[in-house]
Amino acid sequence: MERAYRILCVDDEDFTLDLLDTLLSSQGYEIITALNGKIAIDILAEKNIDLVLLDINMPLMNGYETCRKIKSDSQTSHIPVIMITSMDSRDSKITGIEAGADEFLAKPLDHAELLLRVKNILAYRDSEEVFIYLIHSLARAAEANDMDTGNHILRVGEYSAMIAKDLGMPEKFIEDIRLHATLHDVGKLHLPSHILKKEGKLTEDEMKEVKKHPAFGAKIIGNHPHLAMGKNIAYSHHEKFDGTGYPEGLKGEDIPIEARIVAIADCYDALRNSRIYKPCYDHTGACKILIEGDDRLEPEHFDPKALEIFKKIAPQFEKMYENLKDSDS
Ligand SMILES: [Fe+2]
Repeated sequence: MERAYRILCVDDEDFTLDLLDTLLSSQGYEIITALNGKIAIDILAEKNIDLVLLDINMPLMNGYETCRKIKSDSQTSHIPVIMITSMDSRDSKITGIEAGADEFLAKPLDHAELLLRVKNILAYRDSEEVFIYLIHSLARAAEANDMDTGNHILRVGEYSAMIAKDLGMPEKFIEDIRLHATLHDVGKLHLPSHILKKEGKLTEDEMKEVKKHPAFGAKIIGNHPHLAMGKNIAYSHHEKFDGTGYPEGLKGEDIPIEARIVAIADCYDALRNSRIYKPCYDHTGACKILIEGDDRLEPEHFDPKALEIFKKIAPQFEKMYENLKDSDS
């Protein structure tokens, strides 16, 4: 059975905690209370919490500090925080926003408003989670007939986020590329499995088929604005910076930045992954090929800025590869 949503209420006044408990329990939510921020942080480390209702003025650790702690820890940063303030001033709201609060409610609490805000914020968080889940499902579906199974798609997402971060891209871009990069090969859904699973070199005709997967990918993803980055990545991740790639032969900055980033991430992982039709390389070997080139790859294929970053953060790639290694390799 699905568990009830669990809400952590943090306030130094017993009276407010009792009120929140009564009100929210009556709607079927499971309520956990904490008398200050320190206790709240301890609870968050131990239990799965869906939402935090946070008072601002508390001893030991106030609401702003508590919120900052929640939002700076990768284990808890996804949990929405509603701040409850008796100081309905602009300054306290600004400080709250800076601390990462998602919503504000003023004391004295309007019960109907409180219930609606809680309901909406939980529904929004759910729809976000479902969106991420479905993107991953679609990406996994495309791997069904491919040799590159397992965590390849997740690793490419993580490497891409690492490069984007070091390039100084905004936080939203970094989060988006981590997710959307997993769709890079979704077009392989349309490729016959005898080609994808073929041992040995592909014929010219088979190669021609394989080169259709970017266009198939763009078609599968379609035109929804929320998936625009995924579409760019699927369509352009085999373009090369010097213009020798496919499907369009785009050159330099005409290639969307997200696709230029994924090109390096995908290449590194393909070199590391064992495939029957080519040897797989260790970290040093894969770096050497990306940076110096070999008979098929040239450094000119990649965005020079992104390649510079790869050189700089290559040890992080190795770590990520080890962390998300497929259990059978
Ligand atoms: Fe591809």
